[in-house]
Amino acid sequence: MKEIFSLIKDDLRSVEREIALESVASVNAITAIGRYLQSSGGKRLRPSLVLLVSRMVGDCSPAAIRMAAVMEMIHTATLVHDDVIDTAQTRRGRPSTNIQWGNHTSVLAGDWLYMQAFHAAVRERNFRILEMLIALTQMMVEGELLQMDRLGRLEISEADYMELVDRKTARLFSVCCRLGALVGGGDPRAEDMLSDYGWNLGMAFQLTDDVLDFTAREHVLGKPVGSDLREGKVTLPLIYALEQATSAERREVQTILRDRSYERVPFDRVVEIVQRYAGFERARQRGLAFTQRARDLISGFPDSPYQRSLSAIVELMTDRDH
Ligand code: IPE
Ligand code: IPE
Ligand code: MG
Ligand code: MG
Repeated sequence: MKEIFSLIKDDLRSVEREIALESVASVNAITAIGRYLQSSGGKRLRPSLVLLVSRMVGDCSPAAIRMAAVMEMIHTATLVHDDVIDTAQTRRGRPSTNIQWGNHTSVLAGDWLYMQAFHAAVRERNFRILEMLIALTQMMVEGELLQMDRLGRLEISEADYMELVDRKTARLFSVCCRLGALVGGGDPRAEDMLSDYGWNLGMAFQLTDDVLDFTAREHVLGKPVGSDLREGKVTLPLIYALEQATSAERREVQTILRDRSYERVPFDRVVEIVQRYAGFERARQRGLAFTQRARDLISGFPDSPYQRSLSAIVELMTDRDH
């Protein structure tokens, strides 16, 4: 991880500067929320992808720095809205903005940050970029709406789940890589391959995230474990387990989904059920199929430190602890 980031350390510093400059509003609450989120940590995976891809295909221009900042700002704005929707308590190891400032302020600040990202993107004077970002945003919003619709439902299929992951996470990763290729001056074929690479990376990332929601510790996760089920979300490890679970076991899971708490059925009990039917193992295997595809795609590019970093990032998707 350190090696990967040392390659783009200076670029990332410029990205942080850009984000800080872009997050100043004439209303204090917005600036405060912008600062709060920027200083809470976060892995900066999305801007790193823009930068590494752009450097791999060409060079790192001011446009690459700007688009890296734009993608992190879009990501952050979606997190602000997402935490309102999910009534989250914690984000990046701190009270989430909805807890700190309330829902009303968070929704508006999220809107502002979103628009500021577009404001920055417009400076590129490139309609293709804008079209990509608009389509991405609409995909993500539709994904959140679909997810809301499916909350609390036990009968979620693997295909339903994959559709949500595509919309919620993989598309954003994919656009980061496509934009990196575009501003780096890559040809259309490179753009398509890198977009596909990013998509597979994003799928693997979210699948791992959903396994970690069951298996990680709260202090490494930056949010409580078992959040997904408490929010009414049935994710892949559980989907696999439910395919084989007994009706008594299914009822136990249904109880948690109905209560939105672990008061009557403890969290450990669900972990046990998922484990019994190899739900974690199967979800991990499914994640590995996406990383394999990403690895194949990136290996089609000439060897360079950036190409090697993008290969190494593939492993990080499944071998991470947060
Ligand atoms: C959180 O993304 C949202 C998901 C897609 C799971 P990250 O885990 O990349 O969040 P930060 O930016 O590092 O906090
Ligand atoms: C967050 O999705 C990702 C988006 C808002 C697109 P989730 O609700 O599944 O992720 P966390 O657990 O809050 O990070
Ligand atoms: Mg959430
Ligand atoms: Mg959500």
